[in-house]
Amino acid sequence: MPGLFEPTVIKSLSLANRFIRSATMEGMADDTGKPTDKLTSLYRELAVGGVGLIITGHTFVRRDGMAGKAQCGMHDDSLIPAYKVLTDDTHFTRGRIVCQLSHAGEFAVKKLTETEPLNVNTISENGIAKISEAYITAAVRAQKCGFDGVELHAAHGYFLCQFLSPLFNKRKDAYGDSAANRAKIVVNIIKGIKSQAGTDYPVLVKMNGSDFAEGGQTSENAAEAAVLFEEAGADALEISGDLLTNPAKGPSRKAINAPNKEAYFHIEANFIKQKTGIPIILVGGIRSFDIARELVESGRVDYIAMSRPFIRNPNLVNEWKEKGGGVSGCISDNLCFKPTIVGKGVYCVTLETLDRA
Ligand SMILES: Cc1cc2nc3c(=O)[nH]c(=O)nc-3n(C[C@H](O)[C@H](O)[C@H](O)COP(=O)(O)O)c2cc1C
Repeated sequence: MPGLFEPTVIKSLSLANRFIRSATMEGMADDTGKPTDKLTSLYRELAVGGVGLIITGHTFVRRDGMAGKAQCGMHDDSLIPAYKVLTDDTHFTRGRIVCQLSHAGEFAVKKLTETEPLNVNTISENGIAKISEAYITAAVRAQKCGFDGVELHAAHGYFLCQFLSPLFNKRKDAYGDSAANRAKIVVNIIKGIKSQAGTDYPVLVKMNGSDFAEGGQTSENAAEAAVLFEEAGADALEISGDLLTNPAKGPSRKAINAPNKEAYFHIEANFIKQKTGIPIILVGGIRSFDIARELVESGRVDYIAMSRPFIRNPNLVNEWKEKGGGVSGCISDNLCFKPTIVGKGVYCVTLETLDRA
């Protein structure tokens, strides 16, 4: 029976347990997209706190893909020395760290990028080749920075997700019109990374198990794409869901929208697990050790990823291990987005910490 605290491997990546810090945009970069000491300290806290694998906040692969203030970039070689300091520090504390690569597509912030956002329907095939190359180059750069792997952000409505989702993607050419065609850009990027960074270099994909939106990606189409990602060489899939544009819900559901409902994407994740043979990581609303244990021990998913509980308490994994269980103090009110959005650095916002930033 798989255990939460047993050591595992994802490709060349050996992990101390099955707990993953899901990508969380921290808003802790300088104006050039370079990580700050504050970010290095946060990752140190998470690694020391027992997190098996840290996934960075989404880093933009090109400047026109910026999603917000103080977002980290992976778009330029000048960033390598700063990231090397960060990854060395994480490794020194026995942490493992994967870099999430992203382009915000339609949701890029024009005020920051000073250019028109990319549109999935109007971008030319040449444009697709160029942006795909930007992802591949960024992955090779992340490898030079000392990251233990990369994760493609293909969830929640950002650029790669816009290709996967028929709600956004209305193309009639080789990149649209069928689930396989819509998955093509991600497939080509995975293959490109594997050919340039080496087949051993871990590539993860975060994707929606369903868009939960009328006309959006269905579970069946998501599973079809997942199989293609596995065939292209993906080493693990992190299953999320929802779109940033979905009213009320969204991938980080408030407790009020998911009352008493933890692990709200577990059905979609298990559906994909049944169709594929690579590790499946579940994210979304996991708050209790007992639920995490049941999901893993029953074999429904292979890894447990959390974001907001680790903002609340970076030492959560150690505490659960020491006490043999527990429940996160996170109440899923999403107040942690506020300091992040204004670029002040993410933290758990409570009445006591309201003015900390
Ligand atoms: C402040 C904040 C920033 C986030 N940034 C990212 C991100 O950069 N990339 C990503 O894939 N998801 C991001 N997410 C979504 C989380 O990774 C996760 O999918 C979602 O919050 C549900 O998990 P949770 O209930 O454990 O928080 C972010 C969430 C929060 C709260």
